[in-house]
Amino acid sequence: MAMERTLAILKPDCVKKNVCGEVIARIEKAGFKILGMKMIRLTKETGGGFYAVHRERPFFAELVNFMTSGKCVPIALEKENAVADFRALIGATDPKDAAVGTIRKDFASSKGENIIHGSDSAENGRIEIAFFFPEHDLL
Ligand code: RTP
Ligand code: MG
Repeated sequence: MAMERTLAILKPDCVKKNVCGEVIARIEKAGFKILGMKMIRLTKETGGGFYAVHRERPFFAELVNFMTSGKCVPIALEKENAVADFRALIGATDPKDAAVGTIRKDFASSKGENIIHGSDSAENGRIEIAFFFPEHDLL
């Protein structure tokens, strides 16, 4: 399997619930290497830009409001098969549908406020990591 990168974001609900450490521990125990990590506050512009693929969706305004409601923690991750393995680790978008033992099942309260983001393809992983981290910071 190929070495891949994927972007995680610990969303504002994760920071507010004080569970960043627990979530990061799960990510590390699952074998992901942390290449880059920081705490930031998204603006309407940067948050809307990051989720621009969803701008026509009915939940877009709610999503941008939520993602700008507090600080979040983007994390650049590397592992073999990182994208699919990370999506499996975090679980389905709606915690009600998420498998037992997944991060969203254990920490998320709703489909909108679901603790963590994961890239949905290797190409998007590269694009999303570049959105937050200059390559120099990841070497
Ligand atoms: P993410 O991009 O954050 O990893 O989540 P995802 O792939 O599992 O889900 P996606 O369809 O990409 O949706 C992005 C985020 O938008 C919010 N959402 N709210 N209220 C709703 O019906 C709804 N649907 C999506 C969630 O925060 C979701 O993670
Ligand atoms: Mg998505």
